[in-house]
Amino acid sequence: MRFLRSTLTALLAAAATTLAQNSTQNSTFLNPVLPGWHSDPSCIHLNGTFFCVTSTFISFPGLPVYASKDLVDYKLISHAWNRESQLPGYSYATKGQQEGMYAATIRYHEGVFYVICEYLGSGQLAGTLFKTTDPFDEKAWSDPVLFPAGKIDPDLFWDDDGTVYVATQGIILQTMNIDTGEMGPIVELWNGTGGVWPEGPHIFKKDGYYWLMIAEGGTSWDHAVTMARAKNITGPYEPSPHNPHLTNRGTQEYFQTVGHADLFQDAAGQWWTVALATRVGPFGSSYPMGRETVLAPVTWNKGEWPVFEPVRGNMSGWPLPPRSRDIPGDGPWNSDPDEYDFPEGSSIPSNLVYWRVPRDGAVEVTAEGLQVALGRNNVPGSPGGSDPAAKAISFIGRRQTDSTFDFSVDLSFTPNAAGQEAGITTFLTQAANIQLGVILSGEQLSLRFNATEAQNKTTPLPAEWSGEPIRLQITMPSPTKYTFSASLASDESTKIEVGSASTVQLSGGSGSFVGTLVGVYATCNGAGSGLDCPEDTPNAYFNRWRYTGISQYISQTESVPTADFNTV
Ligand SMILES: *[C@@H]1O[C@H](CO)[C@@H](O)[C@H](O)[C@H]1NC(C)=O
Ligand SMILES: *[C@@H]1O[C@H](CO)[C@@H](O)[C@H](O)[C@H]1NC(C)=O
Ligand SMILES: *[C@@H]1O[C@H](CO)[C@@H](O)[C@H](O)[C@H]1NC(C)=O
Ligand SMILES: *[C@@H]1O[C@H](CO)[C@@H](O)[C@H](O)[C@H]1NC(C)=O
Ligand SMILES: *[C@@H]1O[C@H](CO)[C@@H](O)[C@H](O)[C@H]1NC(C)=O
Ligand SMILES: *[C@@H]1O[C@H](CO)[C@@H](O)[C@H](O)[C@H]1NC(C)=O
Ligand SMILES: *[C@@H]1O[C@H](CO)[C@@H](O)[C@H](O)[C@H]1NC(C)=O
Ligand SMILES: *[C@@H]1O[C@H](CO)[C@@H](O)[C@H](O)[C@H]1NC(C)=O
Repeated sequence: MRFLRSTLTALLAAAATTLAQNSTQNSTFLNPVLPGWHSDPSCIHLNGTFFCVTSTFISFPGLPVYASKDLVDYKLISHAWNRESQLPGYSYATKGQQEGMYAATIRYHEGVFYVICEYLGSGQLAGTLFKTTDPFDEKAWSDPVLFPAGKIDPDLFWDDDGTVYVATQGIILQTMNIDTGEMGPIVELWNGTGGVWPEGPHIFKKDGYYWLMIAEGGTSWDHAVTMARAKNITGPYEPSPHNPHLTNRGTQEYFQTVGHADLFQDAAGQWWTVALATRVGPFGSSYPMGRETVLAPVTWNKGEWPVFEPVRGNMSGWPLPPRSRDIPGDGPWNSDPDEYDFPEGSSIPSNLVYWRVPRDGAVEVTAEGLQVALGRNNVPGSPGGSDPAAKAISFIGRRQTDSTFDFSVDLSFTPNAAGQEAGITTFLTQAANIQLGVILSGEQLSLRFNATEAQNKTTPLPAEWSGEPIRLQITMPSPTKYTFSASLASDESTKIEVGSASTVQLSGGSGSFVGTLVGVYATCNGAGSGLDCPEDTPNAYFNRWRYTGISQYISQTESVPTADFNTV
């Protein structure tokens, strides 16, 4: 009896524990999980690791692949598009600031990872299918199989009989030979529920149905995720009675433009979605980071339509996999600060990107630091058009990944002719960027700050700074303001605040698909000819590159220190 009672007590206690565990087992996490410009996310789960790809448009290297074990902390492991020889001439032929690599899909099938994407603006065959068996090795990504994609946003889906289908904007479907790029006839699947631009399709097969999930409404305030399903992949598709399945349109939410989603299961079988969202709501105009990647739990019961948790800054849902940074590769974690000293022989950090493929030798790590050869055009110069010199901008930067941050870098630069300049920039596109540089203005070494067409201010450099490394810095007193300053690298007490500018000028406009990059540039401001500055033009050298996230806003009024964001 006593034995029985204690057993019963133990059993009850165990049951209570299970109950308690179940009711407390749901996790909380903060969005965005991939802060900074990371639009159009697509993710898969494989054996305990999540792999995601996001859009990069004209920037290079493109199509970054991130890996995560816990869904909230992501390591950059490679770029599917990482060398000019994969798409010879494509980058230089691209005129538009927002052309290039559009939304990609990542999938895994029988030992091979695939990233499929449409390249816009090269004037050549636009569909690209990259393959690898080792996504941790950048160089292992194949040259792409090219295919005639009429529309953007290709999906990749293997049916049980091995047939491979590509759905694209429209929404249309074609079979594809993944070795040759040959496409079958076009089948129209679905026009969506009436929103503009039905696009970003993904097809899933589950419980005897083909489930078609798309984005519609345009990638702005009206953006939404809608679904339809069919018994046959070619249709007819029955729209979901629950459309839109996920959106923040017409709400007062801080996270707006929610859409362009993908779906996957974790190792425990729980469903999740990733989508893009913009921290701008409800009626804001400052969103320099553009479209970022958010995560939300999904409940998808057998034979039923999936139920998505709405996207907020502070989320709760399925238990997350345990926190882990046990992921191979030397790429940085998206949430980590940059502390780059460019030791000789090191490679250029993989989270730094260019605007188009850089010219040979444009940026190199040398004994004197990060060497940047002066470009003939300044960053705003010749934004595309037919001018081939457009490719001669010398710029390298990293994503702004935090609502507020500090960035500083030490510049060593000895110009020998008027107009030679090197500095730092917050850069959205060639038509929208803010610069602080050291320039030889006439015979006077000066600081040049340019935030708008009208504001192009040159002030003499203190005489005692001449020949010394100069620390150039950007801080953010609030999420809507960049402040640019300069000091002697050896003595920060010499700091001069040169100017401030609103983040609104780097929000939308010429860069509504992209997001702000923070980095360095160098230029001879049009001297020389063709693509080249005069032959005796000195290089600029950058050292002690520091980017430190300060805060992440999760609503209009609440922020979390970056150091505490999604940490346990
Ligand atoms: C708690 O969760 C476990 C595993 O997820 C499940 O087997 C069990 O039935 C759940 N218990 C309750 C009381 O919901
Ligand atoms: C899955 O992960 C386990 C443990 O890390 C490993 O032993 C196994 O080889 C992996 N399987 C595949 C298919 O990668
Ligand atoms: C989509 O709309 C077009 C134009 O109205 C129509 O011709 C087509 O049949 C529609 N497609 C589907 C799959 O409903
Ligand atoms: C699906 O539809 C196509 C086109 O109508 C047809 O040829 C095919 O037999 C159908 N498949 C099934 C499994 O019903
Ligand atoms: C998120 O919400 C939970 C309650 O669900 C709360 O305990 C937590 O403090 C919130 N986190 C932040 C950063 O506001
Ligand atoms: C746990 O999260 C799932 C997914 O969002 C949700 O359906 C469920 O109601 C949550 N459970 C509790 C106890 O909050
Ligand atoms: C100054 O910045 C504005 C806005 O980015 C740009 O349009 C203009 O060309 C720049 N001027 C110079 C001289 O850099
Ligand atoms: C603006 O800056 C450029 C250097 O990039 C210089 O050539 C030009 O004279 C400046 N314009 C004004 C009005 O200061």
